[in-house]
Amino acid sequence: MKLWGGRFKKKLSDDANIFNQSIFFDKKLYKEDIKGSIAHAKMLKKQNIIDTNDADLIINELNQILKDIENENLIISNEYEDIHSFIENILIDRIGDAGKKLHTGRSRNDQVALDMKLFTKSDLIDTNLKLKQLLETINNLIKKHKKTYMPGFTHLRKAQPITLSHHLSAYYEMFKRDESRLSDTLNRLDECPLGAGALAGTIYPIDRDFTAKELGFKKPTNNSMDSVSDRDYLIEYIFDLSIIMMHLSRLSEEIIIWNSDDYNYININDEYSTGSSIMPQKKNPDIAELIRGKVGRVYGTLIQLLTTLKSLPLAYNKDLQEDKEMSFDAMKTVKNCIYIMDKLLNNITWNTEVLKKSCKNGFINATDVADYIVKKGIPFRDAHEMVGKIILKCEEKNLSLDELPLNDYNTICNGIIENDIYDFISLQTSINNRKIKGAPGYSTL
Ligand code: ARG
Repeated sequence: MKLWGGRFKKKLSDDANIFNQSIFFDKKLYKEDIKGSIAHAKMLKKQNIIDTNDADLIINELNQILKDIENENLIISNEYEDIHSFIENILIDRIGDAGKKLHTGRSRNDQVALDMKLFTKSDLIDTNLKLKQLLETINNLIKKHKKTYMPGFTHLRKAQPITLSHHLSAYYEMFKRDESRLSDTLNRLDECPLGAGALAGTIYPIDRDFTAKELGFKKPTNNSMDSVSDRDYLIEYIFDLSIIMMHLSRLSEEIIIWNSDDYNYININDEYSTGSSIMPQKKNPDIAELIRGKVGRVYGTLIQLLTTLKSLPLAYNKDLQEDKEMSFDAMKTVKNCIYIMDKLLNNITWNTEVLKKSCKNGFINATDVADYIVKKGIPFRDAHEMVGKIILKCEEKNLSLDELPLNDYNTICNGIIENDIYDFISLQTSINNRKIKGAPGYSTL
């Protein structure tokens, strides 16, 4: 049953056997493993390394094994060391000696390197599609909320007025960058390690260009030792996923804040909020909290992979088996989080009146007052000082900047303020005046 054993006099102990096994988690790679083996067999046939009959038997049976696994007619048994052993053993059980020829010119080292790369590549493409869907949802909200005014914050203190559209555009930019990071990663990853053998290639006249093409890669990798021990692409992908999670967690945090009782900027629809077992009034933003909470899994994977690869001598070492479990979890987690964030965003009611009303306090148009004073010929630093005093006056009288009478302004500003200040510092004018590229007035055009 083992793919090795000829040189051993005694059997591997049960405890060492279990410790060594990866079938529990690498069974996930059955599709990639079979796909890689089929490409390898086709190439062996084309190069006359094995004869046509044997190759056809192998290819047909591998296709059958794939079907059987998918229809659950063949259950991947935990008794095997890993998925490669399982599939090769089943193949040999079913077609006998021909099956024993599949591994000609190949090692499990290039085989597993290939399987992981294929899996990562297809996961990356899938994640990218989910990201596109999220971007589309955000974009729809951006188009819808160009006139939804709200405060922009720094230090979680009200700063300057913006639109909801502008706020969400910031997330659009973040997820767009994530998309481009994924495509960079894909570009670098797109080289096929099959044919690298254990570490030093093979003496058989294999055709690596053929297998690379057959498996949808741009080209074969350059160096056999690097091919079997490289996991940079995986680390890079998990890094991309970490940034996606960081972005999702920032958005989640804002959703949680906006949903809090005192903010009340948004309501989350019943289908995407949860209750409390004791407090009957509760409607909690658990989905956003869970996204925020799951970030650690992905960051953890990044550190785990970096640490596993650190100081690892060339070429293959069993440490590399540790590239799978946490990575699989991270990949699944991120896809789920992008998907559910998309759903959540589609199930939020934006309390546009509350958002607008929230611009009323916190002196968010203070910068506009300073800019008005600058227009009257006062240097900005002096204008800033004057507005500081105006704010103190407002606080003393418990008034907002739009409510403060003109003569209060003019006592501080030596008579230069006119009635048009009230329009100049209004919400709409404040936003419309910010027309430069990248500003809220630009994005509402
Ligand atoms: N299960 C192993 C892994 O995931 C497969 C490669 C085994 N190679 C070896 N030389 N023991 O890395």
